[in-house]
Parts: sequence; structure tokens; C-alpha cells
Amino acid sequence: MGSNFAEMMRKEAEMKIKALKKTGEIPIKLVVLSGKGGVGKSVTTANLALAFSRLGYAGKVAVLDGDIHGPSIPIYLGIENSLLRAEGETIYPIEGPMGVKVMSISYFLSKQDLPIIWRGPLKMKFIRDMLASVDWGKAEILLIDTPPGTGDEIQSITEYVTKLSGAVVVTSPSDASINVVKRAVNFLKVKKIPLLGIIENFSYIKCPSGYEAKIMGEGGERIEKLLGGKIIARIPYDPLLSTSIQDFGNPYEEENLKGNEAAKAYLKAAEQILSQVGGKAQ
Ligand SMILES: Nc1ncnc2c1ncn2[C@@H]1O[C@H](COP(=O)(O)OP(=O)(O)O)[C@@H](O)[C@H]1O
Ligand SMILES: [Mg+2]
Repeated sequence: MGSNFAEMMRKEAEMKIKALKKTGEIPIKLVVLSGKGGVGKSVTTANLALAFSRLGYAGKVAVLDGDIHGPSIPIYLGIENSLLRAEGETIYPIEGPMGVKVMSISYFLSKQDLPIIWRGPLKMKFIRDMLASVDWGKAEILLIDTPPGTGDEIQSITEYVTKLSGAVVVTSPSDASINVVKRAVNFLKVKKIPLLGIIENFSYIKCPSGYEAKIMGEGGERIEKLLGGKIIARIPYDPLLSTSIQDFGNPYEEENLKGNEAAKAYLKAAEQILSQVGGKAQ
């Protein structure tokens, strides 16, 4: 009994060291968060991953889907039916469009519609073990998508990732969203994680006349003041963003980019993020 416990503790410590060592080898590590669900964190994460790829990081972008109850990165990237490969203690990520490498709990679930009933410590372990065991190849950017709030999953990201480069915060212009997101921003302050920028999602709908209808209220400066950060993209409501990126042609490929305001905005946001974390757009 005593030795079993000692063995377990040794394994726990070993996984933590591995997670810290692996993440220490990736130069740029970003977390995408908001306080709130449904504001577009996962859509933002998926699009930023492709935007970074387009800006010269193709094949060097890794995405860890940190949302254990609502994993959605594989859906947005159109790779939800892929099969995992593992060798010994190494797990290989699934490769998506533009060489983006993805790991998500959805690849471990045999029945997608069963709820996951895990307590905090198990969720933290999952994130830690993915950070420790996934072979991201020569990844230079690791993006981590998170569930709403600042619970166990995000705590473990701050504990098991060596030196996060910063956070991207997503909000809609609605008061309900901004107020909750404010808590996430305060969490970043407490943890001394730089706020690299705010993505204002569901900013407007572009009418055929060109008029921008602000469906969720006034964003812009109001959000910047309330959250104390800079908006790096204003993303319109666009039905294309609610489906898999593959369905209508990847907008980050040159031939599909024209006229795609959301993709252009994400590209600009990605450039601004890179300029703050020592990356370089090409
Ligand atoms: N700009 C947008 N235009 C249209 N639909 C969007 C946009 N952003 C997000 N969505 C849709 O809104 C829902 C919530 O987005 P999601 O990224 O999953 O939110 P979160 O990860 O914050 O919970 C999804 O159905 C998504 O497809
Ligand atoms: Mg999500």
C-alpha cells in the first residue's frame, strides 16, 4: 500500500515535469478564454490556428482542445472522425487543414453523445497528461482552447504550461458577456498572464447595402474601456463560421480569402498577436 502510493506520487510528479518540459520547448503558447460560453472561443481558436498557418507557420501550429465537456475544435476544423495513434506513452495528434495538429478529448470517446462526468482533479490530469504525452512535432505555436469560466481546466493550463506567452480574450458586445469576461481578465491579472488582445465576436451583421447592423449592442471602445485591453479583431456574424472550415473551402487559402471579412480580420489579429510574442508573420 505504502509503496503503491509512493509509486503513484512519483508518476504524478513525472507527468508534471514532462508537461512543463514539453511546453518549454514550444516558443509561443497562447490560451483563448472568456468567462462565458457560446461567445466564440472555439471558433476563434480554430480560425487563429489557420491564420497563423497562413502567416508562415503551416505545420507548426498545435491546438489543444481544453474543453472537456464541449470539445468542438475537431468539428470546426472538420476532423472529428479521425482516429488517434499512440506508441508507448506517446500520443500523436490529428492533423487538420494547413497542417494544424489537434488534440481533443473527443478522440478518446467511443460514443460522442455520452456526457463526461469528471471531477476537477480528473480534468486537470487529462490536460496535464495531454501536455505531457502528445508529440506535437516541431510546433512553434501552441493554442489552447478553454471551457467557459476560470475553473479546473484553466488552472491546470497555468500550472502545467511553462511560461504562457499570453491570452486572447473573446467577448460579444452584449453586457451579459462583457461583465462575465471581466472576471476572466481579472484572473489573467492575478496569474500575471499578458492580455494580448480582445476579439469582439458577433460584432455586427453586414447588410447587402454595406450597413453594419450592431445586433448585440455597441462594442469597440466601450469594450476596451470595460475590459482594459485592446480589440484586435471585430468579427461579424457570418453563418460560414458556424460550420466546419472545410465545408465551403478553407478561407485561409488565397483563392477563397477574397471578400471573406471574418478571415481577413482573424489574419490581422494573428499578426498583432505575433508582433507581441516575438513571432514573425511572413
Ligand atoms: N462570428 C460568428 N458568426 C456565426 N456563428 C458564430 C460566430 N462565432 C461563433 N459562432 C457560432 O456560435 C456558437 C458558439 O461558438 P463557439 O466558438 O463554439 O463558442 P464557445 O467556444 O465560446 O462556447 C457555435 O454554434 C458557433 O458556430
Ligand atoms: Mg468552445
